[in-house]
Amino acid sequence: MFLVFPDPRSIAHYVSQLLADRIRANPQIVLGLATGGTMEPVYARFIELATENQLDVSQVRSFNLDEYVGLPADHPQSYAAYMQTHLFSRLPFNPLHCHVPDGLAPDLDAHCHDYSMRIQQSGGIDLQLLGVGGNGHIGFNEPGTPFDSRCHVMTLSERTRVDNSRFFARDELVPAKAITMGLQDIMDAREIILIATGPHKASTLAKYYHNDVTETVPFTILKRHPRARLIVDEQAAARLPAHVCHYPEELAVRP
Ligand code: GLP
Repeated sequence: MFLVFPDPRSIAHYVSQLLADRIRANPQIVLGLATGGTMEPVYARFIELATENQLDVSQVRSFNLDEYVGLPADHPQSYAAYMQTHLFSRLPFNPLHCHVPDGLAPDLDAHCHDYSMRIQQSGGIDLQLLGVGGNGHIGFNEPGTPFDSRCHVMTLSERTRVDNSRFFARDELVPAKAITMGLQDIMDAREIILIATGPHKASTLAKYYHNDVTETVPFTILKRHPRARLIVDEQAAARLPAHVCHYPEELAVRP
């Protein structure tokens, strides 16, 4: 079942409200956070809402999904920098509680192992936000990644590097590798919200609908999760049959 909203703005309102509600109910919530263009309006709206309502985020704990290997945290295209720009520097989060994989870790495999362990030691992720890559990847788990994977280093596919090149300067190469939470780390989250917006995600969502659970389309694993929801806008839903689209109109426009 897909929850279909009119546009990215209404999704941002809905997801921000949900985030705020969850944080109010559990101030020490463990969030799994995503990057990418899809998440930008969500974080922008969440900052407004949290500020207007003086939401206390000081005890929130978070683990980001992924990071490029080889980019320092202050590189403008690193996901650490993305999180600072779009969320962490804008609200009083405690930096000690907000984790992003370290793309410069000297021993990447040890760092990955430690990252998965730290998620588990935190009590596990309560709410995981996800975007989806054009080829169906979540985090940076490219097609073919085993479903039982933990945090690991992934060699990025050509498709992903081309898709993500829009964020990089013209003469700059998209890194060849990334650290990503594994599919099992993601599936361990107690609740998952995947967001997909725009016409370029329509064929990706159609693949989710038309395939059974398969490692060749990584996000199909979410069909096995008891509390995973796919929240999409009308453009992304364009190739889905009507009977799988649910229109939560009463939630779509929240002040
Ligand atoms: C990147 C990230 C993913 C993200 C995806 C979609 O590859 N690793 O976590 O979900 O892109 O990005 P966008 O929202 O920009 O389409």
